[in-house]
Amino acid sequence: MSDVTTEAPVATIATLGKHEGQRVTLHAWLYNLRASGKLLFPIFRDGTGTIQGIVPKAAVPETVFESIKHLTQESSVIVTGSVRADARAPGGYELDVENVEVLQRVPEETPFPISLKEHGTDFLMEHRHLWIRTPRQSAILRIRAEIIKAARDYFDDNGFTLTDPPILTPAACEGTSTLFPVEYFGDEAYLTQSGQLYIESTALALGKVYSFGPTFRAEKSKTRRHLTEFWMVEPEMAFADLDDLMVLAENFISFIVARILERRAADLKVIERDITRLETIKAPFPKISYDEAVAMLHEAHAKGLIENKFEYGDDFGSPDETYLSSQFDRPVMVHRYPANVKAFYMEPDPVDPRFALCVDVLAPEGYGEIIGGSQRISSYELLKQRLEEHHLPLEAFGWYLDLRKYGSVPHAGFGMGIERAVAWICGLDHVRETIPFARTLNRIYP
Ligand code: 4AD
Ligand code: MG
Repeated sequence: MSDVTTEAPVATIATLGKHEGQRVTLHAWLYNLRASGKLLFPIFRDGTGTIQGIVPKAAVPETVFESIKHLTQESSVIVTGSVRADARAPGGYELDVENVEVLQRVPEETPFPISLKEHGTDFLMEHRHLWIRTPRQSAILRIRAEIIKAARDYFDDNGFTLTDPPILTPAACEGTSTLFPVEYFGDEAYLTQSGQLYIESTALALGKVYSFGPTFRAEKSKTRRHLTEFWMVEPEMAFADLDDLMVLAENFISFIVARILERRAADLKVIERDITRLETIKAPFPKISYDEAVAMLHEAHAKGLIENKFEYGDDFGSPDETYLSSQFDRPVMVHRYPANVKAFYMEPDPVDPRFALCVDVLAPEGYGEIIGGSQRISSYELLKQRLEEHHLPLEAFGWYLDLRKYGSVPHAGFGMGIERAVAWICGLDHVRETIPFARTLNRIYP
């Protein structure tokens, strides 16, 4: 829709800088309205940002002034006006409004439920379909989209081929306790927990591959880091070992953070992110072994810095990861966990086979694990033995074992949960704000 009669081209708020001094048309909603005598200050939002309009009574026809004066929050409008630079305005510009065409005025009797005052989390999650219109939530969603684009660009530009794994799968990848069963024409199938097993096969076909898609875990835990449906980006490389994988992970994360700083500065400002905490995120990252991480936890416990006495041999819990990751100004890579706390497919360390050639990347500021990955078992015999030890049905994994029968090679890959990455980069308290519609233990509405 364009306003041809007044020759004011349709513009977006984010790009108003290109139209300084010109007349434009905006497709927008009313975010807020202040009135001061003969002056109105409507704030419009259009999905790319917000801008304040100025409407002096004397400058517009009476009908226009009256219709703006009675606008309600989230009424939909087509606005025309001229763009004026104003150093005091948050986006650098203001709009001298000439006309407002109201598409739908929200009635007073049924006002937009999310006002500018504070609301509780349950209320906001119940109204998530409307909550996402608020400037902070919109900014987070734009940053999420940019993180996804950056991840794709990184792999596309570094020789990786995108291969999409199935979502309906016959077997478990990441343990049997978090499977979502689906009735599949009389058989039991599961929603995928990770594309890994499939992209191992596409890696042996194409060399360097990645997948990016939704993954599912029936997590019974109610934490600020767990969703039941989340998006994972997973690279997999043939002829690669754990060291190659760690270099890939640090370059990948550094690239994404630099991209967000470069392209989403305005959104980082809207959400009041302390960007000095992102500017330090440059490869190489610190790399410590599981044993070294445990030593740090034991020392912290002895000094009374953490309550929990960590049991050597366990996997790290959220509080342990929070402590470890808060000790560094960039992500820390913890490698070589005890094999028995990790997945069945991990290659044992030849130096000491009780440990696995795996790595978890813990984000700084206490965010904990954002990446989990490993070198994969390349021996047919050992993989078969591991499947048996984990009581996994061999018949469902015949195809996966084939990869070790026909030209087996060392190979490695990782998975990064997009929502965990968004939570960290945006500095959010909870992953529920990182995805348009979060799925958690106790919420599947809206
Ligand atoms: O560490 P995870 O379980 O590793 C895998 O699934 C491997 N198969 C990946 C691979 O090697 N290709 O999960 C990888 C990442 C975690 O580091 C975390 O960022 C995210 O996925 N993740 C979750 N994010 C939100 N909610 C959950 N319930 C998550 N579980 C894992
Ligand atoms: Mg993990």
